[in-house]
Amino acid sequence: MAHIRTGSVNIPVQILGSTGSIGRQALDVADRHGYRVLSLSACSNAAEVEKQARRYQVTSCAMTDVKAAQLLKTALADTDIRVYAGAEGLCEMIRSFHNEKPVVLNAIAGEAGLLPSLAALESGIDLALANKETLVVAGPIVMEKAKKHQARVLPVDSEHCAIWQCLNAGKKREVNKLILTASGGPFFGKSAEELKTVTVRDALAHPTWHMGAQITVDSATLMNKGFEIMEAAYLFSVDESQIDVLVHKESIVHSMVEFRDHSVIAQMSVPDMRFCIAHAIEYPRRNQAVIPPLSLSDVGALHFAKPDTETFPLLDQARKAYRTGGASGAVLNASNEVAVDAFLKEKIRFPEISDLIAAVCDKLSGGRDVHTVEGILEYDALARSETKNMIRRR
Ligand SMILES: NC(=O)c1ccc[n+]([C@@H]2O[C@H](COP(=O)([O-])OP(=O)(O)OC[C@H]3O[C@@H](n4cnc5c(N)ncnc54)[C@H](OP(=O)(O)O)[C@@H]3O)[C@@H](O)[C@H]2O)c1
Repeated sequence: MAHIRTGSVNIPVQILGSTGSIGRQALDVADRHGYRVLSLSACSNAAEVEKQARRYQVTSCAMTDVKAAQLLKTALADTDIRVYAGAEGLCEMIRSFHNEKPVVLNAIAGEAGLLPSLAALESGIDLALANKETLVVAGPIVMEKAKKHQARVLPVDSEHCAIWQCLNAGKKREVNKLILTASGGPFFGKSAEELKTVTVRDALAHPTWHMGAQITVDSATLMNKGFEIMEAAYLFSVDESQIDVLVHKESIVHSMVEFRDHSVIAQMSVPDMRFCIAHAIEYPRRNQAVIPPLSLSDVGALHFAKPDTETFPLLDQARKAYRTGGASGAVLNASNEVAVDAFLKEKIRFPEISDLIAAVCDKLSGGRDVHTVEGILEYDALARSETKNMIRRR
């Protein structure tokens, strides 16, 4: 697939999670803008990584699944491409670039993105962050590492990309609040009674975005928006009480900032993550568009509504986890990952996702005093096994 190159910038990049939805879109942006892709990573899809590695002539690849790494090593035996194996191998690959410091785009799904994010920041490498779980699980540690090693955390999530741009309209002390928009997911407007009978297929039918399965279900439960409240609080150093959520089903306004004079600045575009990827990687430069122009006359009308936090309790569960601090974000995320996986395998019904998460968060609230990566990972493991036990007992 050959694209016309516009605004070629030859930026060196590492793309983690290159076989996923964001990873593939990042490679598309790399094609269009001429980035130099130095390394790639995935979990188990060795066949796709092999194709990508040959096409981009990368220096190295990492597969966190050790068997997949072996397969890839054999497949690439006729090349000089180095293949790293396992989660530690992935971090070693990132650290191997500590001299050149190519920006790391982290598009791994789930908590597995945390250690690679830390490996990048500890090597003084800028982190273009799609993996919001990095901040949900260990926000204060991650932001502290970035500061210490003078590396930047560049938001890729569309809402945070929007807020980042809106904040340029004033000074930090002039900000009243951040307003995150939410598409509302496929179940916006449904009652708690109706949610009892929704299927996996219904949950995966997101109205605007085509994403991986985990984030698509997280959008349906509003866990994704809860995670984004935490992500915004850490990224922009604001309290969760200063972050509002508005349902906006057209997904044209990606988020807003209200300043103290009550001026509200919004960022708009067609919904397409490739804009956010390019914006993060090329910041502060604005390059040629990788997305179509926005025609507001075609969109016609924009609607906004308050989220229903009673029917979708995970928004408030995330606020609570942020306020509690310590390992609470790790517990929230781990129980969510396990519960969503069980829902996707049709072992539990949709409303049980939030019930399970609330029960696990209550049970493991002692994690509030944990402030090290090791301690946080212990709580992650505890929350996973507790959630699995609760599912088994149902
Ligand atoms: N998709 C979106 O539009 C969107 C928007 C905003 C933010 N995000 C965030 O971006 C991240 C990725 O989302 P996605 O939708 O692109 O997910 P996805 O399509 O499921 O892709 C996930 C990627 O991560 C890899 N991976 C999975 N488990 C891993 C592990 N244990 N260790 C290392 N790599 C692993 C996968 O490799 P294999 O293919 O080998 O399994 C794949 O490359 C998530 O944090 C999500 O919240 C996504």
